[in-house]
Amino acid sequence: MRKAIYPGSFDPITNGHLDIIARGCTLFDEVVVAVLNNPDKSSMFTVEERCEMLREVLPQASNCRIEVDSFQGLLVDYAKKKKAIAIVRGIRAISDYEYELQMALMNRRLAPELETIFLMSGEAFSYISSRLVKQIFNLGGKIEGLVPSLVEQRMTDKLASKTRRG
Ligand code: PNS
Repeated sequence: MRKAIYPGSFDPITNGHLDIIARGCTLFDEVVVAVLNNPDKSSMFTVEERCEMLREVLPQASNCRIEVDSFQGLLVDYAKKKKAIAIVRGIRAISDYEYELQMALMNRRLAPELETIFLMSGEAFSYISSRLVKQIFNLGGKIEGLVPSLVEQRMTDKLASKTRRG
């Protein structure tokens, strides 16, 4: 049973994340999509909302099992608890590499038995990030094709409820 953790903020999940999950699924029997619960970071969606959206947009039938979960604290401790053998991270461009390398080497220092596997996202997704999606959305731009339509709807609902509350 080869299990990997795919950790991230997923605020919100993008089509780029879905691409990495699909690629991870070709390599592992189980992929745990793990949403970081970080109370210090302000986010558009709560951890529960992010997990719910993930569960709704992830493929139901797949060769590998996909679990959605959230975690707090050190990623390596969570990975050990879940008995995972690897951490999956997506790399879009060279600019991602420095940050990812630093995290991977730090995680290796903390847990040498845990490998970090970098997967290259498809070219069509190489410029998508949750941060840019939120920025474009908040400025009234079109985000169709960047996130699943359910996520776009939840973003619209979130904005409407914020506007109502003033
Ligand atoms: O989607 P993100 O925000 O780039 O994901 C970053 C994440 C969640 C992978 C990273 O912040 C993380 O692993 N946080 C947990 C705390 C931890 O283990 N820190 C040490 C990492 S070297």
